[in-house]
Amino acid sequence: MTTLSIIKADTGGFVGHSAVHPDMEHAAREWLADAVNTGLLSDGQVASCGDDLALIMVHGHGADAEAVHSFAWELFQHTTSIAQRLGLYGAGQDLLSDAFSGNLRGMGPGYAELEFTERPSEPMICFLADKTEPGAWNLPLYRMFADPFNTAGLVIDKNMHPGFLFEVYDLHEEKRIVFDCPSELYDMLMYIGAPARYVVHRIHSKTLAATAAATSTQRLSLIAGKYVGKDDPVMIVRCQSGLPAVGEVLEPFAFPYTVAGCMRGSHHAPLMPVGLDQAHPTRFDGPPRVVALGFQVTDGKLVGPRDLFADPSFDRARQQANVTMDYLRRHGPFEPHRLPLEDLEYTTMRQLEDDLTDRWQPIHEAPAPAER
Ligand code: 13P
Ligand code: 13P
Ligand code: MG
Ligand code: MG
Repeated sequence: MTTLSIIKADTGGFVGHSAVHPDMEHAAREWLADAVNTGLLSDGQVASCGDDLALIMVHGHGADAEAVHSFAWELFQHTTSIAQRLGLYGAGQDLLSDAFSGNLRGMGPGYAELEFTERPSEPMICFLADKTEPGAWNLPLYRMFADPFNTAGLVIDKNMHPGFLFEVYDLHEEKRIVFDCPSELYDMLMYIGAPARYVVHRIHSKTLAATAAATSTQRLSLIAGKYVGKDDPVMIVRCQSGLPAVGEVLEPFAFPYTVAGCMRGSHHAPLMPVGLDQAHPTRFDGPPRVVALGFQVTDGKLVGPRDLFADPSFDRARQQANVTMDYLRRHGPFEPHRLPLEDLEYTTMRQLEDDLTDRWQPIHEAPAPAER
C-alpha cells in the first residue's frame, strides 16, 4: 500500500493572516528533499493556501505513522522559528502542544491521509483551503459522489451505480457513523447539512473496495477550548476509472457556496476557487480560498502539480464570490454574515458572557430604566 499524506499548519502569517513567507516554503522544500533522500518519503512537495503551509507526501508508512508525523512536527517547529525571526504574525499559531507523542492527533496541525494500491494511472487532487473549517468539504463531496446532476458518471459509468460509503464524524461528541449512499442519502443530508458539527471524514467506493476521498477533520477551537484561527482544511480525492472524473470532482466549486470562516473565523462568506497565485485572502481576511492541485501518482512519485483552478472556466465563480461578498459584508456584525451564537461559543462569546452575567436581570422584576 502507498499513502498520500497532506499535513498542514499555520506556523505564521505574512502579512497578517494572508500568506506563507517564501523563506518558510523554501525551508520546507529543503526538509522534504532530505526526507526523500533518506528514504522516509518516496516523494514530497510543498504548497500553500493563504497562511497555511501544506506538505504533500507519498510514503509507505501508512496513516498516522509516527515517523511521518514527527517529521512534519519538527518541520513546523523549524518554520515557526523562521516566522519568529521575521516577526511574522501568529508564529506557531497551529502548534497547540509542546510535546509530540506518537502522532499529530489533537496537536493542532491538520492532516488528510489516504492509503491506496496504485492503479496503472492514479489521478489525485489535493485540495487546500484557507479561512474556513473542515465541514466546508461536505457540500462538494456530496455533489461529487452522490449527485448525478454534478457527476455524470453516477449515471453513465455502471461501476459507480452501487454508490459510495460516507464516513461522517460528529466533532462535538467524537462519534462516527457510516452512511450507505444512495440508499441513505436523505438521512445523511440531515447531518452533513450542519457542517460546523458533522464532517465527512472519508468516502469509500463499494465497487473498488477502496478509499476514494479523505479529509482533515480536526477542529482547532474544540481542541484548544478557545479561538485559535480556523482549521483551514485539506482534502484528497482520487479520480477516474470507477470514481468521479477530474472535471466532475472540480465541478462543485463552480458554485462559490457559503462557508464559515473569513474574518476572525466568525463570518459566513463564499468559498472562492483560485489558482495558487491568487490564494492570498486579503479583503476582510477573505473571501475564503480553495486551490486544487492535480497529480498523477506514479511509482510513489508526484507527477505534477497542475494548478486546476487556474482556468478561465472558474472566472464566473470568482466573480460571483465577489458579488456575494459585497452583499454579505453590508450586514456588518449581523447574522447571517456573522456566525450564529452557538458557533461563536468557542470564540469570543464565552468571555463576553462571563463579563456580563451579573448585568442580565429577569425582565419582569427589573425596574423600568426611569425608576432606577
Ligand atoms: P473513465 O471512466 O475512464 O475515468 O473516463 C471518464 C472520463 O474521463 C470522462 O471525462
Ligand atoms: P487563519 O485561521 O487563517 O490563521 O485566520 C485567522 C483569522 O482570524 C483571520 O481573520
Ligand atoms: Mg493565521
Ligand atoms: Mg489560515
